[in-house]
Amino acid sequence: MITQTMDIPDKTKGDAPRDTLTITDNRTGKTYELPITDDTIRAMDLRQIKVNDADFGMMTYDPALLNTAATRSSITYIDGDKGILEYRGIPIEQLAEHSNFLETAYLILFGELPTAQQYHEWQDKVLHRTMVKEYIKVLMQAFRYDAHPMSMFISTVAALSTYYPEANQIMNPEIRMKQIVRLVAKTPTIAAYSYRHHRGLPYVYPDNDLSYTGNFLNMLDKMTQVKYEPDPAWERALDVLFILHADHEQNAGTNAMRAIGSTHVDPYSAMAGAAAALYGPLHGGANEEVIRMLTQIGSIKNVPEFVEKVKKGEGKLMGFGHRVYKNYDPRAKIVKQTAYQVFESTGVNPLLEIALELERIALQDEYFVKRKLYPNVDFYSGLIYQAMGFPMAFFPVLFAIPRTVGWLAQWQEGLIDAEQKITRPRQIYTGPAQRDYVPMSARK
Ligand code: CMC
Repeated sequence: MITQTMDIPDKTKGDAPRDTLTITDNRTGKTYELPITDDTIRAMDLRQIKVNDADFGMMTYDPALLNTAATRSSITYIDGDKGILEYRGIPIEQLAEHSNFLETAYLILFGELPTAQQYHEWQDKVLHRTMVKEYIKVLMQAFRYDAHPMSMFISTVAALSTYYPEANQIMNPEIRMKQIVRLVAKTPTIAAYSYRHHRGLPYVYPDNDLSYTGNFLNMLDKMTQVKYEPDPAWERALDVLFILHADHEQNAGTNAMRAIGSTHVDPYSAMAGAAAALYGPLHGGANEEVIRMLTQIGSIKNVPEFVEKVKKGEGKLMGFGHRVYKNYDPRAKIVKQTAYQVFESTGVNPLLEIALELERIALQDEYFVKRKLYPNVDFYSGLIYQAMGFPMAFFPVLFAIPRTVGWLAQWQEGLIDAEQKITRPRQIYTGPAQRDYVPMSARK
């Protein structure tokens, strides 16, 4: 709790340091001492700072929440300056090398790596819920032939709530877990249906003998063969990409998931909102924009001219920069390596050399160095997806499938956090002061 104090520790006199922050309000001359926990002060403590009793109290103004921790979380750790990303304490590099997506999903959702038995039970549960009801298929077939797959994905996830009305019992842990398993299991199916729709092909039912990503490839690619056999290199590449995209602490999509979830709506409705946030070109839609940008640059020789334009403020270098990373995004390093592995079977994406040149120039240019702009996860992932033959419109959907795990883990953590309430920021009102309604006949 905040206390009013004049007793400020003076290190030169040997006073012991305290975990507090002293603020003097020069309007009143009063001094306040605020507790510091985890390098943070509580915004609500500031409300005690008032000019008089009628005063509402001090708030913080933080557009785009640049410097506001809105939750405590034990899921994902990022050190943006050092380029560190960990899920439940385990570095992303180790997970990408040794784990698979379903095991990583278990880790994110349950907090620990599964034992062999836990893993098999979890895998069994997920793989046996991959099918969606026929109504969902019919619903998706009703979209226009050229519907954007991400719009289909968002709408269909929202529509799932109509089939599972019990999902709104969000405080029942068993019911909650049932929806989590359903969503992890069914998002690849919905995604694959949106892809087949986009390509004018019949939808393919899941094959539960295959792995999570193997089955996903089956639902995307299967034509007339009786049994689909996924290419192991592609299956592994997708698995690695899914691991890298599974969670990323309080990004825009996750913040949407938590905010919508804080109203206690069902997880399908909340996740549709999170996926909508992900769709934006500044978020998960960036990988699509990277390919557009590289195609527009067209050739290595045009790279310096393009970089100059970006520096003049004429557009952005898509796939570069990050709110949190002020160093190379650790995911981008792994995506780059994975790209080379995929290109061994697909052939090199011709846009790769433009991307490499862009990265080379940007990483030594004063503009990007000064602003600490490095490639992010989207810079190379689009090149892999394109080499695998995925249309650009499908890229954000490929991001949404694995991020489902992070959204659900963060949603659940928010719900059971006793400190959380409905998310409701404040504002600084800048409109007109109170005035009277003027009848239309009297308006000028
Ligand atoms: N190209 C050129 N300049 C940039 C870029 C960029 N990609 N990103 C930031 N800047 C500049 C920006 O103009 C600003 O310059 P100044 O200080 O002169 O005004 C400075 O760098 C700081 O940028 P900011 O806009 O304050 O940074 P932010 O934290 O608000 O934005 C971002 C982060 C990711 C939205 C932004 O870097 C961006 O738009 N990048 C391109 C889109 C992109 O690749 N998004 C994918 C993000 S990673 C995947 C995900 O998690 O969704």
